[in-house]
Amino acid sequence: MSTIVLAYSGGLDTSVLLKQYVVAGHKVIAMTLDLGESDGTAGTGASAALDEVKTKALALGAHGALLVDVKERFITEMALPALRANAMYEGVYPLSAALSRPLISALLVESAHRYGADAVAHGCTGKGNDQVRIELAVRALDPSITTLAPLREKPLSRPDAMAYAREHDVPISSTVAKPYSVDANLWGRSIEAGVLEDPWTAPPEDAFAWTAGAHAQPAEPEHVVISFEDGVPTIDGVTGANMVAALNAKAGAHGVGRIDLVEDRVIGVKSREVYECPGSITLIAAHKALERLVLTRDELRFKMSLDQKYSELVYDGLWPSPLRKALDAFNASFASRMTGKVRVKLYRGQAIVDGTTSPHGLYDEKLATYGVGDKFNHDAASGFIELWGLPLELGARVARDALTIAR
Ligand code: ARG
Repeated sequence: MSTIVLAYSGGLDTSVLLKQYVVAGHKVIAMTLDLGESDGTAGTGASAALDEVKTKALALGAHGALLVDVKERFITEMALPALRANAMYEGVYPLSAALSRPLISALLVESAHRYGADAVAHGCTGKGNDQVRIELAVRALDPSITTLAPLREKPLSRPDAMAYAREHDVPISSTVAKPYSVDANLWGRSIEAGVLEDPWTAPPEDAFAWTAGAHAQPAEPEHVVISFEDGVPTIDGVTGANMVAALNAKAGAHGVGRIDLVEDRVIGVKSREVYECPGSITLIAAHKALERLVLTRDELRFKMSLDQKYSELVYDGLWPSPLRKALDAFNASFASRMTGKVRVKLYRGQAIVDGTTSPHGLYDEKLATYGVGDKFNHDAASGFIELWGLPLELGARVARDALTIAR
């Protein structure tokens, strides 16, 4: 008999796992996290539903049930560093699920220490990215802890899970016949499986919960002003989890943040994933726009390639790597200049930046203008072009000569 901390969602699979561990005589601590997954709107309904998950765990025989609100921690420790890196996997996915896994692992390890558990367990299958992310993060935090992945060792089919549940009095909720596999937190909602497995099939409207379809969107655009202070965004004086939740609701109403991606999983297969990330997509668009205003050309160009590396590390489960930490330090070095305001227009599924301002802005209207008051030195341009093009001219001349000699 051992003590196991189980990452528990309250769904059928992890409920069956919990029961199986209890039946086998283990002491199970069921750990449930509130990452803002319920609706992305900081609704109070979320905590009530999660309280039921806790009650269910205890009813199934868990020795203890933890419900931890990690929304603020998720935004501060995971999402904001990712925002500083404009992190989007393969250029489009804001890494919502990927960012939550290392935090789940941290909580698993913290709980294991608290309860003297020697093992933690998760309900990931052997085909996804999440098993990799959770296990690498647990290992990096405490290599002495064993991570159990029972559904990888012995996959559980829906009918088998249902049969086991019926035999062992595991309540089966009415939502068990879900058409999709869904994972969500404040940074976004991911939808996979079912009819989405055919990449030619357009995602049906019922796949979406946070974003309005074309017919349900307001006819008029709405503007939101995002204020950044040292790189930290605020909207209408609200920061952190509440700000992201409110933005999810606001941008989601305009259909912002729907993503349909055939992506490359860590384990080598391609999979079709659908996401809705209204808040994160809007924040990343705004953050990029502020960077374009305040960073130098060289900084921007260089950072872009590092941003891509950052998103790959996060996706691939390498959040605990020294390189990710080094990139965080690099990104933090811009913070003192990342103060300013960005205005974003939410309209017809798009978050379009239509205004930026910053005391650190490098944009100089006197240099940029085509109108009166132009301070740009036009005469210097011809000398610049002469020298800038010199290597090209030399190269072309040598190539021509070589051609003549060869003849
Ligand atoms: N494909 C996405 C990722 O790897 C989403 C995974 C969502 N996880 C899930 N269990 N549905 O980050």
